[in-house]
Amino acid sequence: MGTSVRVKIRPTSWKYEAIISTGSLAEAGRWAAKCLGRTESKIAILTNRKIAPIYLGLVTHALERTGFETYSFILPDGERYKNLSSIETFLQYLGEKNFQRTDAIVSLGGGVIGDIAGFAAAIYLRGIGFLQVPTTLLAMIDSSVGGKTGINTPFGKNLVGAFHQPRGVLIDPAVLCTLEQREITAGLCEAVKQAALAGEKLFDQTRELLDVFTEGDVSKVFTRKENARRFEQFIAAQIRFKSEIVAADERESARYVGPKSRKILNFGHTFAHALEKSTDYRYLRHGEAVGHGVLFAAELSKRLGLLDKDSVNLLRDVVRRCGPLPQIHHIAPDEIRTALRYDKKNIDGTLQWILLQQIGKPRIVPGNQIPASVLNSTIKAALRK
Ligand code: NAD
Ligand code: GLY
Repeated sequence: MGTSVRVKIRPTSWKYEAIISTGSLAEAGRWAAKCLGRTESKIAILTNRKIAPIYLGLVTHALERTGFETYSFILPDGERYKNLSSIETFLQYLGEKNFQRTDAIVSLGGGVIGDIAGFAAAIYLRGIGFLQVPTTLLAMIDSSVGGKTGINTPFGKNLVGAFHQPRGVLIDPAVLCTLEQREITAGLCEAVKQAALAGEKLFDQTRELLDVFTEGDVSKVFTRKENARRFEQFIAAQIRFKSEIVAADERESARYVGPKSRKILNFGHTFAHALEKSTDYRYLRHGEAVGHGVLFAAELSKRLGLLDKDSVNLLRDVVRRCGPLPQIHHIAPDEIRTALRYDKKNIDGTLQWILLQQIGKPRIVPGNQIPASVLNSTIKAALRK
């Protein structure tokens, strides 16, 4: 492997490493052997119809060259396939191919594929090993790390799942060259969310990096060596922050509301989930909804007297520089209020809002402490923009 940045992830249940290295996909075999401690086993690569024609051949070849026996299972592309039926057919496939507890799953894709692969690995034979090879920016900085796996259900998003940490994460930022600009924007919004929680250092690093992307062509990031290196460092810094939170509160314990509570990673997500639900999960990419959600949470924090105006303006500028977000003014405030009422992440019947006191200082505020008039006027203002 060429130059690489390594981040150790240390939750209580399983310690592993994320390797960030441009061009490393071709080395997936040696990496997998190291993570699994063996090569004489089967690997099922889970991916989708969009990613398979671009990257499956390379990964399969790398694994087989090292001695693994590989199988691939290709799902249709899209969030709507993150469901029980995909899990069922994939488990059936593993069973038919006689996968044993010493065999493993590789997830090759974005957050959707990663969440499905991880959940299947968590429940097949009560748990087998899995490896994350994230191919979207969002998956690289967020979903591939931390062990949250799961699927969507008719009663809500991500409501069935398990905590199951991967054995390792291999990140080759060069694969982002084929990602649509809209998906880059979505990933950058999640990066801004994490940076706003982490503090000034990561916030500034993220802000500076946005200039590289606003040039318009993602592939340019990788044609210059110093850009690639800078980008690897950025991904590593984002993962380092997330891994600190995961190490402190791996299972997002319901009652813990301290500064390292995993709940804080839901900054911007309460409004984002309401937007996604009220538009039937079809209109916005998850990260785009988070972009709107970050702006909403900042505005709500300001109206409650927690956050100053300059910080809100700073966040607004940074989110704008992530790229254009789909308009939301056609959504009725009532639809948002209804979606919020049915948010399943309530504790004791009350929503937990993640708000900001300053960059790097989140605060968990129970919904019953927020006056309805303030919430309603913030919703109306957000939808008017
Ligand atoms: P995604 O997985 O749907 O990928 C976005 C699109 O990009 C898809 O069309 C995909 O096929 C395509 N794609 C992926 N890699 C590509 C590449 N290199 N080149 C070209 N096209 C490529 O979406 P996402 O934003 O990666 O993930 C969103 C999902 O992640 C949601 O389901 C969300 O709930 C979940 N999530 C999970 C966690 C977690 O901790 N487990 C955290 C955040 C989000
Ligand atoms: N993306 C939120 C979490 O991993 O907890």
